[in-house]
Amino acid sequence: MAKNLKVNGDTFELMISERRIKTRIKALAKDLNKRFKGQTPVFIGILNGSFIFFADLIREITIDCEVDFLKLSSYGDAKISSGNVRLLKDLNADIAGRHIIIVEDIVDSGLSMQYIRDLALKQNPASFTVVTLLYKPASVKSDIQLDYVGFTIDPEFVIGYGLDYAQRERNLRAIYRMKS
Ligand code: IMP
Ligand code: MG
Repeated sequence: MAKNLKVNGDTFELMISERRIKTRIKALAKDLNKRFKGQTPVFIGILNGSFIFFADLIREITIDCEVDFLKLSSYGDAKISSGNVRLLKDLNADIAGRHIIIVEDIVDSGLSMQYIRDLALKQNPASFTVVTLLYKPASVKSDIQLDYVGFTIDPEFVIGYGLDYAQRERNLRAIYRMKS
């Protein structure tokens, strides 16, 4: 795996290897399998960023479950959160009375997660659980609860494994941080 790469003139360095991501996902899935046994939860992936994490996580889930997606936009092509969250695709599933598990790539300001929670709770799910692969606690500007966190990171800009830089680099197999 490349240790350094250049994108749009910026240099990125390897931060979390493919192997570490895989190991962590197995542990998260083990906890979820235990917690939701017998409940048939609905896993809700937040597009676009979570698509790779979602696909890897869901294949480690061994209990009965359903899958759905929400698509939000906020960033545009910028590296900092605009705070303007818009809904681009709503849920198909009826989540009233269901146990729902939100699957996010990263919680930065937390504004997207706040929006998702408000949207979901209006439909009266039986429970609301959040799984995020990455979490930047120093950036959070809202009051949110994260139930399962893959990795807690510094407030740095990261790419790869679903996360983009101006829509590029989502296909990288590992997570890279921008070098200052
Ligand atoms: P938030 O609303 O500020 O928490 O940001 C949520 C969304 O912004 C995430 O779901 C990501 O898609 C995107 N995002 C936040 N931080 C980064 C980053 O470091 N790299 C790439 N995308 C990011
Ligand atoms: Mg996202």
